[in-house]
Amino acid sequence: MSRVAYVNGRYLRHAEAQVHIEDRGYQFSDGVYEVILIKNGHMIDEEQHLKRLQKSLSSLEIVLPMKQTAMRHIMKEVIKRNKFQNGIIYIQITRGVAAREHSFPKYSNPTLVMTARRIAAKNYNEIESGVKVITIDDIRWKRCDIKSISLLPNVLGKQTARNQGAYEAWMVDAAGYVTEGTSTNAWIVSPDGRLITAELGRNILSGITRNRFIKIIHELNYKLEERQFSVEEAKNAREAFFTSSTSFLTPVTEIDGAVIGNGRAGSLSIELLKAYDNYMNQAY
Ligand SMILES: Cc1ncc(COP(=O)(O)O)c(C=O)c1O
Repeated sequence: MSRVAYVNGRYLRHAEAQVHIEDRGYQFSDGVYEVILIKNGHMIDEEQHLKRLQKSLSSLEIVLPMKQTAMRHIMKEVIKRNKFQNGIIYIQITRGVAAREHSFPKYSNPTLVMTARRIAAKNYNEIESGVKVITIDDIRWKRCDIKSISLLPNVLGKQTARNQGAYEAWMVDAAGYVTEGTSTNAWIVSPDGRLITAELGRNILSGITRNRFIKIIHELNYKLEERQFSVEEAKNAREAFFTSSTSFLTPVTEIDGAVIGNGRAGSLSIELLKAYDNYMNQAY
């Protein structure tokens, strides 16, 4: 089945979709993006993703090239034309095409691109065995709350993890606190069962999945602390996991070689993941 992409008003075969070489996304990473999970043909937390997209755009003074209703229509159309039930939709908006000059061009039309791809359903047996995480210095800029397409530190961090046989890298600030993963939010469970994740600020992305889990944690009456935690605290945690639209909740069973809990996914992690699964099945 051939994939379909949307580029500036046209639905094209994915393999033939293109943007201009002087697009500012290509030359300066001057743009933003969103990744939305599609479950049984429906977008999960579409509203929250669009709100965050608008916030990222405003931070960069890029004006959405159309009304949100038109954009929602295109998103639905992209999903329909790609003919799958479970996957993701990727939305990217850049400042557009202009002669290469750092300052904003006087005139440019933002470039809007959407692609979609299928992703395989999660298998609980695999999830139970968890994944390894390493820690790395957080070398990013001071506006990580903007979902910018400028992702080089994240790309290098993920590759460092892969080179060391780990799945994700957790980034650590100058004071020794874990900020977040290269494409995920980081969580731990304290020895007495409190859930801990970094508070929102300009140093992390306000993950839509993070925020959904916070709601679920409140509903289930577990204790939550939005605060900094150190690598040492993480290594001594009862459980650890990370969240994102594509990874949902993924248990972490090793951090820098230190085994977390009994080396298998923790029971609270699995309970929360099941609650999230239920939420997704009832979200539309
Ligand atoms: C740096 C970073 N943190 C957190 C997340 C998780 O965000 P969400 O739950 O909205 O997918 C992502 C997702 O791409 C990310 O890139």
